[in-house]
Amino acid sequence: MTVHAVSENGQVNWERFLARRVQKMHSSAIRELLKVTQQPDVISFGGGMPAPELFPVREIEEACSYLLREAPKMALQYSTTEGYRPLREFLAEAMAKYGIRHSPDNILITTGSQQALDLIGKIFLDPGTYVLSERPTYLGAIQAWRAYEADFVTVPLDDDGMQVEYVEDVLKKTPVRYIYVLPNFHNPAGTTLSEERRHMLVDIARKYDLIIVEDDPYGALRYTGEDIIPIAALAPERTIYLGTFSKTLTPGVRIGWVVAPAEIIHRLVQAKQGADLHSSTFDQMIANDVAQRGILKMHVRKLRKVYGERRDIMLEALAEFWPEGSSWTTPKGGLFLWARVPESINTLAFMPKALEKKVAYVPGVHFYPHEDGGFNAMRLNFSNAQPEMIVEGIRRLGVAFKEELARK
Ligand SMILES: Cc1ncc(COP(=O)(O)O)c(C=O)c1O
Repeated sequence: MTVHAVSENGQVNWERFLARRVQKMHSSAIRELLKVTQQPDVISFGGGMPAPELFPVREIEEACSYLLREAPKMALQYSTTEGYRPLREFLAEAMAKYGIRHSPDNILITTGSQQALDLIGKIFLDPGTYVLSERPTYLGAIQAWRAYEADFVTVPLDDDGMQVEYVEDVLKKTPVRYIYVLPNFHNPAGTTLSEERRHMLVDIARKYDLIIVEDDPYGALRYTGEDIIPIAALAPERTIYLGTFSKTLTPGVRIGWVVAPAEIIHRLVQAKQGADLHSSTFDQMIANDVAQRGILKMHVRKLRKVYGERRDIMLEALAEFWPEGSSWTTPKGGLFLWARVPESINTLAFMPKALEKKVAYVPGVHFYPHEDGGFNAMRLNFSNAQPEMIVEGIRRLGVAFKEELARK
C-alpha cells in the first residue's frame, strides 16, 4: 500500500515544499529510456553501457575474497574523504604517463565521475551563473549543473571537437564559471579535440583566467591513432581533470577520480563530505587491487580490441543499410558515434517507430542544453550489443528510416 501524508483534503501537496532548484531537475532522458530498452528483445544503442560479457568477473571475485580475507577491518570500515591512498598513488603514476604530473594529494576519489560533476557544480555554481560547454554535450553534466540553477552557453563541435575559435566571442558576451570540455571520443559526438585546439583553448583560458573541466572517461579506449596530450598536462594550474573506472573496468564499481590543484581538491573534499563522506572503501580497494595487479591494463587491451571491432562493424552496417543523405562520425575510440539522417526525420518523434522495430537510440536533441539542435541526429552506442545484433539493429533502423522517407 502506498502511504500519503495527509492534509485538509487528505493529500499533501508535496510540490509546495520543494526547493526552487528542484524545478530545474528532470529525470535523465537516458535513464528513462533505459527502462524501456532493458527488455531483452530490444537491441539497444541507447545507454553508454560496456559489454557485460567482458566484465572481469573472476578477477573481481578474487579481489573481493582476497580483501575480505586479508584486510576486512579496513575494507568494510569508514575511510577518509580524499580516498584510499594506495589507489591515489597508483592513479598519480598512471596519470603521469599521460603527462599529468600531480601528487596523490591532488587526487580525490569520487563515486564515479558523475559525482565529480555534481561536486564541481556544488562548489562553483550559483543560481544564474553560466558554464561554457560544447553543443552537443554530456547529458549528465547538463542534469548535474541545472540542479544548481546554472545555465549554459555553448559552442558547436566539428570532427576535431569543440570549435574553439568561437569560445572568445561567447566569453566576451557572457562571463562563465568554467569551460567544460570532452576532449577524447566525445559523448555523444564521438569526436576528438585536436592538439592544436587544446593549445588554443588553454591560451584562451589563461587570457580570461578561467578554469577548464576536462571530462575524460574514454581516453584509455583508443582504437585508432596516437594519444593526444591532455589539457590537464598543458595547463595543470587551471584544469580539473576527471577520470573513471566505469568504462575501463565496470560501472557498477562506482569509482572515479578528480585531479586538480590543491585548493580545488580541498573545496571538493568539503563538498563531498556533505554528499557521502567518502566513496565506498570496499569498491576503492577492489579497483586498487585490480589495477595494481595489472588486470586493468590487460582488460583495457581486450576492450580496445573488441570495441574497436564493434565500432567497425557499426560503421560498415551504416554504410550498407542507411538511406542516402545520412552521415556519421568515425570515432577513434570510446563508445559512441553520432549519426544524422535526412532532415525531414525528427529522431525524437521517430523514437516510438524505432522501438516498434525493437531498436533504441538516444535522440540528438537531448544533448543540447537548450534543446535547440540535433533534431535529425542521434547517439549510437557500439560497445554494448554483440556484433550480429549491431548489424541487425542498424539494418532495422535503416529499413525504418527508408520507409519513413518514402512516406514523406
Ligand atoms: C562524459 C561522461 N562523463 C561522466 C560520466 C559518468 O561516469 P561515471 O559516473 O560512471 O564515472 C559519463 C558516463 O557515461 C560520461 O560519458
